[in-house]
Amino acid sequence: MTQRKILVTSALPYANAALHLGHMVEYVQTDIWARFQKMRGHTCYYCCATDTHGSPIMISAEKQGITPKELVERMHDVQQADFDGFHIGFDNFYSTDSEETRVLAYDIYAKLKADGKITSRVISQLYDPQKQMFLPDRFVKGECPKCGAKDQYGDNCEVCGATYAPTELKNPYSAVSGATPEIRESEHFFFKLGDCEEFLKQWTRESGRLQPEAANKMAEWFESGLQDWDISRDAPYFGFEIPDAPGKYFYVWLDAPVGYMGSSKNLFDRIGEDFGAFWNKDSTAELYHFIGKDILYFHALFWPAMLQYSGYRTPTAVNVHGFLTVNGQKMSKSRGTGITAREYLDAGLNPEWLRYYYAAKLNSKIEDADLNLEDFVSRVNSDLIGKYVNIASRAAGFITKRFDGKLAAALPDNELIGKLQAASESIAESFEAREYSRAVRELMALTDEINQYVDQQKPWEMAKQEGREAELHGVCTLLINLFRLLTLYLKPVLPKLTASVEAWLNIAPLQWSDAQTLLLDHAIQPYNHLMTRIDPKQVETLVENNKAQTAAAAAPAAAAQPAIEAIAPTINIDDFAKIDLRIAKIIDCKHVEGAEKLLQLTLDLGDHQRNVFSGIKSAYKPEDLVGRLTVMVANLAPRKMKFGLSEGMVLAASGSEPGIYLLSPDSGAQPGMRVS
Ligand code: MSP
Ligand code: ZN
Repeated sequence: MTQRKILVTSALPYANAALHLGHMVEYVQTDIWARFQKMRGHTCYYCCATDTHGSPIMISAEKQGITPKELVERMHDVQQADFDGFHIGFDNFYSTDSEETRVLAYDIYAKLKADGKITSRVISQLYDPQKQMFLPDRFVKGECPKCGAKDQYGDNCEVCGATYAPTELKNPYSAVSGATPEIRESEHFFFKLGDCEEFLKQWTRESGRLQPEAANKMAEWFESGLQDWDISRDAPYFGFEIPDAPGKYFYVWLDAPVGYMGSSKNLFDRIGEDFGAFWNKDSTAELYHFIGKDILYFHALFWPAMLQYSGYRTPTAVNVHGFLTVNGQKMSKSRGTGITAREYLDAGLNPEWLRYYYAAKLNSKIEDADLNLEDFVSRVNSDLIGKYVNIASRAAGFITKRFDGKLAAALPDNELIGKLQAASESIAESFEAREYSRAVRELMALTDEINQYVDQQKPWEMAKQEGREAELHGVCTLLINLFRLLTLYLKPVLPKLTASVEAWLNIAPLQWSDAQTLLLDHAIQPYNHLMTRIDPKQVETLVENNKAQTAAAAAPAAAAQPAIEAIAPTINIDDFAKIDLRIAKIIDCKHVEGAEKLLQLTLDLGDHQRNVFSGIKSAYKPEDLVGRLTVMVANLAPRKMKFGLSEGMVLAASGSEPGIYLLSPDSGAQPGMRVS
């Protein structure tokens, strides 16, 4: 078998929402595939990242009173923990807000520009005069121009289903500030997608690139014509500023897919792998993107075109999956419905139960799948525990108690072992083709046959009868070998359970080629329970908790207790020592013309002075601050603002309620003293 070089990605999760069980369909699907390729002996890297840029993230950070960078760093760690919890084995989980991604995005943009694929024109857009920002469609609300329904988003009406431009809404208002938006003009940059039509038509038709359903969707898009794609946004925006265009930023979807490259670049630099071997035009490596059906347009049109015309290779294939519903209900982050990955783990549910259930449902089609919770419990309990784990527990005890933990030197004459070994290639084909449900069905049919064999042989009776020792030894050795093969085939789905089996059996990590070997005359460890049954009560708790969470999230701030923000991930003393906190004396304080929230402070640090802008105008009058001592971050990188350079930050407390409270030291502290 020739060794393949493969780079696999899953869509990069947005930093502004918790991962839910719908997202996990994609990460589990991709993870199974990547693990399978590694077991086959191929070089396979699985890369992902947090998708960090864009207005929603900027606005959400502002609401939480933190910077977008702080928000995305925090969410990256939260997402990492969720992925670890579900055994998603990324080779790299990075961030689009990274130097690698910025450099690559600039490079791609420059090449597209040089190739004449970038144009610019002035467009009219809704502008929030209070927030002083252009409003993305989702942040304008108003009455539907067709049916008059109130509180509809700027792009479509959830009541009558009409789609329209945000400028068509009646009585529009900004969802950020409530202000009535104005129409303003601004220059935007566009990627000339229309110029890429011939290439894209050919690319999407090439065999293996897209599933038939996706290819059909593409044909519809070609029919309605390819529009130029607006790739710039005006400040304020959280993203990469466009070179030579101050105040203009790349729209998040321009740099998001470049994040695939950025994540792999970061990994490859670290491990000494050649980036060009995967991304250059002449690359012979394979590149696969796993995505949900909602983001096909970005991955099958914009992304291949961007790569093609900037001189990089294009994806080998884009693998699209459908959406998950739970008990027939749509999952929705915006509505606060849907079980999060964290809620599932916190309810004490085993992530491999869900991995198995998803595998049993997934195929290569773009079909939606339902997580029916009753079916989930019964399927996991009957298949995984009742059929599969049962084989191990039926044989293990005898080997330990009767045969000193040692397997027999030969197997009894039986066709089952040959049958399981022969299944290796058809199961591999199913995994390769993302037909996981087919693989699971084949494995469960084999498991049924093995259990029938146990029922016929009745080892528990052999154990009671004299003179049947050797027979019992042989049957149990056979069962453990059969179990080892089943485990090998399920390893991409159940990596954690497999690790326990490998430890129990005293064997090296299972590779696909191990299917052709047997375990004979070999000492194993005493058996411990590999997996418990699902208690339906655990699932009930999960659903109840989710309902309570959703209700709490939906309730207006009526709760008696103000919400206390969660404590950030732990840092060590060295992290803390990097922050140089100093006592500063406010020697001057002024209003800032045109700034709603800022005061301009002149701070004395004992041996020099600093200029700092601080968002405390709502809480303090300038004259009340002059002469006061406070604490500042003295080694914060200076930040260029509209009003001038801010050379540090003063410390103030705030919570979910309005109110800002500047910190002061005890009397006696002197300007310039270090705080630690
Ligand atoms: N940030 C973009 C992707 C950028 S890729 C360069 C994004 N993020 S997302 O967090 O909204 O979604 C991440 C992935 O999860 C997407 O592929 C999306 O289709 C998938 N899913 C989101 N909800 C889902 C279900 N309910 N079911 C299955 N997959 C789901 O889109
Ligand atoms: Zn309507």
